[in-house]
Amino acid sequence: MNTPASHSTPNEASYADRARKHLWMHFTRHAPVLNGEELPVIVKGDGCYIWDDQGRRYLDGISSLFNVQVGHGRTELAQAAARQASELAFFPIWGLAHPRAIELAERLAHLAPGDLNRIFFTASGGEAVESAWKLAKQYFKLTGKPSKHKVISRAVAYHGTPHGALSLTGIPAAKVPFEPLVPSTVRVPNTNFYRAPEHLREDLFAFGQWAANRIAEAIEFEGPDSVAAVILEPVQNSGGCFTPPPGYLERVREICDQYDVLMIADETITSFGRIGTTFAMDRFGVTPDIITCAKGLTSGYAPLGAMIASERLFEPFSQGTNTFLHGFTWGGHPVSAAVALANLDIFDREGLNQRVLDNEELFAKTLNELRDLPIVGDVRGTGYFYGIELVKDKATRETFTEAESERLLRGYVSKAMFSNGLYCRSDDRGDPVVQVAPPLIAGEEQFKEMAQILREVLTHAWTII
Ligand SMILES: Cc1ncc(COP(=O)(O)O)c(C=O)c1O
Repeated sequence: MNTPASHSTPNEASYADRARKHLWMHFTRHAPVLNGEELPVIVKGDGCYIWDDQGRRYLDGISSLFNVQVGHGRTELAQAAARQASELAFFPIWGLAHPRAIELAERLAHLAPGDLNRIFFTASGGEAVESAWKLAKQYFKLTGKPSKHKVISRAVAYHGTPHGALSLTGIPAAKVPFEPLVPSTVRVPNTNFYRAPEHLREDLFAFGQWAANRIAEAIEFEGPDSVAAVILEPVQNSGGCFTPPPGYLERVREICDQYDVLMIADETITSFGRIGTTFAMDRFGVTPDIITCAKGLTSGYAPLGAMIASERLFEPFSQGTNTFLHGFTWGGHPVSAAVALANLDIFDREGLNQRVLDNEELFAKTLNELRDLPIVGDVRGTGYFYGIELVKDKATRETFTEAESERLLRGYVSKAMFSNGLYCRSDDRGDPVVQVAPPLIAGEEQFKEMAQILREVLTHAWTII
């Protein structure tokens, strides 16, 4: 395997210096000087690994941004993109169509649960969420319930950065700089069992019912005639992989049916094998009204997202009289659609969903061994999607103060993982967690490598709190 050479010559400023002058990085604190710290510049990927411009190798522990499902360096995806760009680089799906969007829509309709057969393409997860909310509003306007427009979402959930998606996001700090946001959103508890109310800590099922019933309560408080939808991730990423307690999603479905409220499953992260099935809702056996997805749809080789809606929601738009007045230039881009089709071929050929199901127990076991560390409060998740919650006191589950969390996560853990060869993420949007979600091709070797680096870093982290 080749290690890449630096892309800058001795007379040229380094990539890091050039980035500092012009590249406005996302969700990034830019400092005038980096105080001796390097800006990592990633130049190559192969399988589960990435390399920086100094030739250093890292295990890609979160599939870059929860999306490189099939791993890096798949030339067949590059070739699919090149073929499509040569044949038809671009054409919109506004009133006309192109073959790859048609083929991909057909394929996704077959893969999606129930009668979620109508595929509205976007370029991202955030756009898919925007589309879902707008569809919910217009659908009810067209079907005699025009006052239904509010959406209920869960605490600490992240649904994207466009104004609508951000309004649904349950992370106050991410929203404050942009307020006022879109009105009409309501927050309910998520399914963080580790932080369940005291009286429910011993009973997962009862906790799930309690959490689901908060949705019914919110609908009642807001007025059922005003509520259009509930949006939730089957396994919530932000806060650290909150899995749904048994019976929870079923109860949410029941509540949505009772109040004629649409159930939107935001599967931007959980779809395409992340938890061992194409859509997580299939694994949990509950059919929502809408699925939003992106990321793993192309394994990150091209940008693409989708809102997948049920036949019922498409019906008012199927009679030649009403138009869903919504769209994006890049939605269903031919090159992205071609890449998605080739990506799904890899899933089929290599049995990647089954691979995750076959390996998830070993992955869970390997990560759970970290529980002996004093700083590890909880290890939770499913499939290839886990969060490790860090605590100050295991017995009381006491979390870190903001300053401690800053010192611990930003000051040490993230950097130490990286310098030890593991790219993954520490996150304090909820309580502090380390998130791990390797490419679906990862196996025992990568699990061990990941756990060994985490053990080293988290052991030391405990000494510097
Ligand atoms: C659950 C969820 N929804 C929406 C988004 C937004 O996706 P994008 O960044 O593609 O707009 C994300 C991004 O991580 C996500 O995790």
